[in-house]
Formats: sequence, C-alpha cells, structure tokens
Amino acid sequence: MVPLFIHPAAPDDAGFLALVLLEAFTWNDPGRHTLDDIWADPAIAHYVAGWPRPGDFGVVAQDDDGTPVGATWARPLPADDPGYGHVAPDIPEITLGVLPGHRGRGVGGALLDALVARAREEGVPALSLSVEDGNAAVRLYRARGFVKVGRTGDSDTMLLRFDDTPTADA
Ligand SMILES: CC(C)(COP(=O)(O)OP(=O)(O)OC[C@H]1O[C@@H](n2cnc3c(N)ncnc32)[C@H](O)[C@@H]1OP(=O)(O)O)[C@@H](O)C(=O)NCCC(=O)NCCS
Repeated sequence: MVPLFIHPAAPDDAGFLALVLLEAFTWNDPGRHTLDDIWADPAIAHYVAGWPRPGDFGVVAQDDDGTPVGATWARPLPADDPGYGHVAPDIPEITLGVLPGHRGRGVGGALLDALVARAREEGVPALSLSVEDGNAAVRLYRARGFVKVGRTGDSDTMLLRFDDTPTADA
C-alpha cells in the first residue's frame, strides 16, 4: 500500500472527477474517448455535471506529493434521468476510478471503504452502481457487500444496503 491521503471531494475537484468518469466509462477501451465526449453525452455527463449538487458526496485519493490519483463519489439521480445503475431516486449511484499507473495497490479499495463510511454518515438507505461484464472491479464491490439486483444491457446493477431489508441476489 502506497502512502495515501483521502479527502472529501470538494467543488474544485470537479475537473478531476470528470477525468475519473472518463476512466470508468472507457475501462475496456482506454484512450478512444476524450473528456469532450464525456461532456457531449448527457447520459454520462450527468454523473458529474454541476458538481457538487445537493445529495452528492465523494472522496479523492492523492499521492504523498498531493497529486490526485483516484476518486469515488455518489450522486442521486431522478427517475426521469436515471443512471445505468439506477435503483431509486433516494439511492445514490457511485462512480469509481483510479488513474492508470496507480492501480492494483489498494487505492480503489481504500476509496470505496471511505465512500461507504461516508454514505453511512449521510444516512442514505443504500448505494447502487453499474458494472459491465468482464470488469474486475466487481470483485471489489462484492468484497464490500454489494449484491447484484438487476441487469441493464451487458452490465449488472449492484446494491449495498444500509438497513436490514433483505435484498435478492438476482
Ligand atoms: C477498478 C479500479 C477502480 C480498482 O482500483 P485499484 O486501485 O486498482 O483497486 P485495488 O488495488 O484496491 O484492487 C482491488 C481489486 O481490483 C482488481 N483490479 C481491477 N482492475 C485492476 C487493474 N487494472 N489493475 C490491478 N488490479 C485491478 C484487483 O485485482 C483487486 O481485486 P482482488 O483484491 O480480488 O485481487 C481501477 O482498476 C480502475 O480505475 N479501473 C478503471 C475504471 C473502472 O473500471 N471503474 C469501475 C467502473 S464499474
């Protein structure tokens, strides 16, 4: 594990979150898309546009020299503008990414742990996400208790509940 500092995502982290969003959406095809492509597609841009909006929360990991290397955040999206991993308007959907060159050293896991802790403090009922077939990130999610609750296209929708309501592992 490298030295790592994790801080709450602030308004001036918006640009970095957009870079992470690009990494998350191009995980299996890095380099083919640009930030402009992200902003041009409302179904992707809505994960970060206007950061932060009410209900948003997130965390950023930085190296010991202060360079941001990864982030994860949660945003509630309405039913009429749902994300790929939408479950309900009061359940924020998360985005997670670590910059290439910093992966495989525990950064993603540490970020996810920090976000889950923050979500409990925020009092949200659950966190949801969408993970495409073949993305090894699914192991990270399962290890933290996310379970599959649905399917959209070639992606699983996963949910981590913070109450005692049983959740079907669909
Ligand atoms: C998924 C991701 C955030 C994991 O971050 P990370 O810092 O590499 O994660 P960790 O070092 O904490 O490792 C956690 C797990 O991720 C796995 N993993 C996923 N992608 C990996 C990669 N490119 N390099 C190394 N490990 C990776 C590891 O094998 C490990 O699983 P294990 O503990 O069962 O062996 C990172 O690989 C990434 O940013 N990928 C591109 C964006 C993306 O796919 N985001 C998720 C969209 S749903």
